[in-house]
Amino acid sequence: MGRYPFGIPNGWFLLTYSEDLAPGAVERFHYVGRELVAYRGASGEAHVFDAHCPHLGAHLGVGGKVVGDTLQCPFHGWRFDPNGRCVDVPYSDRIPNQAKLRNYPSVERNGMLFFWYHAEDHPPFFEIPDAPEWHNPDFTRPWIRHEWTVQTHCQEMQENSVDGEHFANIHRMDVRAQLHHEFHGYELHWSLGARKEISTLEGTEDELRLESESWGLGYNLVRQQGQMQTLVATGLTPIDEETTQMRLGVIAKRDGRSDDEMSEWMERYMAEHAVVATEDFHIWENKLYRQQPLLMQSENGIAEYRNWAKRFYSPTSEG
Ligand code: FES
Ligand SMILES: [Fe+2]
Repeated sequence: MGRYPFGIPNGWFLLTYSEDLAPGAVERFHYVGRELVAYRGASGEAHVFDAHCPHLGAHLGVGGKVVGDTLQCPFHGWRFDPNGRCVDVPYSDRIPNQAKLRNYPSVERNGMLFFWYHAEDHPPFFEIPDAPEWHNPDFTRPWIRHEWTVQTHCQEMQENSVDGEHFANIHRMDVRAQLHHEFHGYELHWSLGARKEISTLEGTEDELRLESESWGLGYNLVRQQGQMQTLVATGLTPIDEETTQMRLGVIAKRDGRSDDEMSEWMERYMAEHAVVATEDFHIWENKLYRQQPLLMQSENGIAEYRNWAKRFYSPTSEG
């Protein structure tokens, strides 16, 4: 058994920022323990497949080309349609039935491209929404990006949000009086209020109010109200069963501030989000997953969370 008793969860995961997959582009990725390829066809729609050609196994993300709405293999030129089905073998009239690439459903939300992973290849059983802030001209664009590879599992990372006691030790935030969480189907909602010193602004104090929504174990949006109003989109994409790509995108509301006023101060204010995100890394990377943790009464949320998280695994996704 690996480090965790669970494998890769089912759900939506951030593949890449939409603007990083240009029309006609082909990109390779390694997530959910697999080699993946994504391309954007003539229609502007993005598609995500397993990367290796069913013919002789070439990697479609290395030298593959977009032809109209299809993806062409670099080795012998077979072409695959947006569903992953082979539609052309240049030197044969016959197309084998099994000439198909595994196709991962994908959606673009808020300038990000997500793919749906399911251990048994079942279709999506929940959706992820658009954030109104992303479409509001009073919010900055593009996402200010932060990205890390962390030696842990995304279930462990999200567990922190219901772990009220760790905020004081790790994040220097006393949230105990104001931390709430609720589970709704495939969503986890939590909110907290706390005073906090902003390390990137010489320790000025901020009065924070955070409202968070998570869809599955791989994606969440945090709305933070403090000296500024910000929206933080977090993607937790499994690279394999023990490694996660964590990406944070941050935008902020201008509230009448000019670009000049926004730029330096805003960047420093928003940089604090990345500081807070990294504060847990040394814990996650070195901890054990205790299946029977010693929970105090105020820590019941952790047990509830673990129970909720079970719905994202198939019988075959055991670690
Ligand atoms: S390996 Fe892809 S067409 Fe031959
Ligand atoms: Fe934390």
